[in-house]
Amino acid sequence: MTVYNLGSINADRFYRVPHLPQPGETLAAAAHFSGLGGKGANQSVAAALAGAEVVHIGAVGADGGWMVDLLNGYGVGTRHIAVKPAPSGHAIITVDDQGENAIVLYPGANRTVEEEQVTKALAEAGRGDWLMMQNETNCQVEAALSARERGAKVAYSAAPFDPEAVRAVTPLIDLLILNEVEAAQLETGAQGMSTLRTIITKGAAGAVFLEQGKAPVEVPAFAVPVVDTTGAGDTFAGYTVAALAQGMDVPQALRQASAAAALMVQRKGTAEAIPTLPEVHRFLGQ
Ligand code: RIB
Ligand code: NA
Repeated sequence: MTVYNLGSINADRFYRVPHLPQPGETLAAAAHFSGLGGKGANQSVAAALAGAEVVHIGAVGADGGWMVDLLNGYGVGTRHIAVKPAPSGHAIITVDDQGENAIVLYPGANRTVEEEQVTKALAEAGRGDWLMMQNETNCQVEAALSARERGAKVAYSAAPFDPEAVRAVTPLIDLLILNEVEAAQLETGAQGMSTLRTIITKGAAGAVFLEQGKAPVEVPAFAVPVVDTTGAGDTFAGYTVAALAQGMDVPQALRQASAAAALMVQRKGTAEAIPTLPEVHRFLGQ
């Protein structure tokens, strides 16, 4: 079982600020640090730490070798990450004293993924494998089609939210992961929504799994002190898909993913802050 992840790889530049910047305001940051991020890379790291075999599909620029090395260090397969003549993606992330963030994303090389690269990578996929995707690259529709052709399942987390992208991809996937704000925006006009397996994350209120004809599975969130929510959704998605791919049932997978997210919000940073499976087990008292 392998989780293929078509996803972004970003250099994250964090700035700790007393409040999120207002229009026209110049704001001094109390702290700054950089690290590996990108919704795609974060999900790959989370899935790998959760015990899945992960192959990342994406693109960086010539300046992105350190990020590929870090992914490798987490055990993520990087042979399908292309090096392109474009700068690597980066994100300017401001985090306020409540742990809330605002992000400016420069996609760069993330949007230069080629269809041929995706179909070649997914030619390795088969039944039992999963494809994960988010919205920070291109080629999602092509990837979903290739994965389905091979009998692999497709999970899609609709972040950052783009209703058009979601509508294009939704008919081709098995599992949709989105937050409650995104879910509300989708309520009208989404093709196939009612038949799809959907996970809606609700921050401090937990998450709910919806499947047609079945009772919703509610998963409460763990009450923890929040330092930085950045990457918590990615951690949740990566842990969830890794668990499902390894045959765990939905309530158990969501409980474990929710614990991983609870650890994540207590730490600053993105990929490097994602908890390991033993840490998650300890948190759950297992
Ligand atoms: O979800 C958090 C991520 O969003 C950050 O790592 C940043 O790179 C942006 O993609
Ligand atoms: Na965090």
